[in-house]
Amino acid sequence: MSEPINPIINDQLDALLHGETNLVANLANASALLMQTLTDINWSGFYLYQPDTDDLILGPFQGNVACVHIENNNGVCGTALATQTTQLVPDVHQFPGHIACDSASNAEIVVPLTLKDGTKLGVMDIDSPLKGRFTTADQAILEKFAAVLLSHIDKA
Ligand code: SME
Repeated sequence: MSEPINPIINDQLDALLHGETNLVANLANASALLMQTLTDINWSGFYLYQPDTDDLILGPFQGNVACVHIENNNGVCGTALATQTTQLVPDVHQFPGHIACDSASNAEIVVPLTLKDGTKLGVMDIDSPLKGRFTTADQAILEKFAAVLLSHIDKA
């Protein structure tokens, strides 16, 4: 069993990003905070939506090198983007179309990121080597994490 995610991470993120609205800097620090704080994860980071090509491109992350382009509606990330819903995947090997970037990954959670005006920013992606790593309680905390992050980059 992994430790449940401590909701204090959301206060830490809020303090870490205080006074900064730069997208790249905030995504970089958010991915580092996730990697430093969460137990039993091997990748944390962001894919950014490109409306011109209707796909996702790799953004700031921590972990092994990863695939650069992910098509809309493909894999866990593309499904989160297309459906605009969090994808909580206890076993990635059971997820149709899962894109294996790191063979160590067995579980994954992907949260869509959308600005206040409805613009799709992309997705936040966290991978774990442990099947069943993420719970619905973790999901609620990570969705709040995404909301805190968006509040620091969304000036609309
Ligand atoms: N597994 C993801 C691809 C990104 S990596 O996990 C970093 C997916 O299926 O969309």
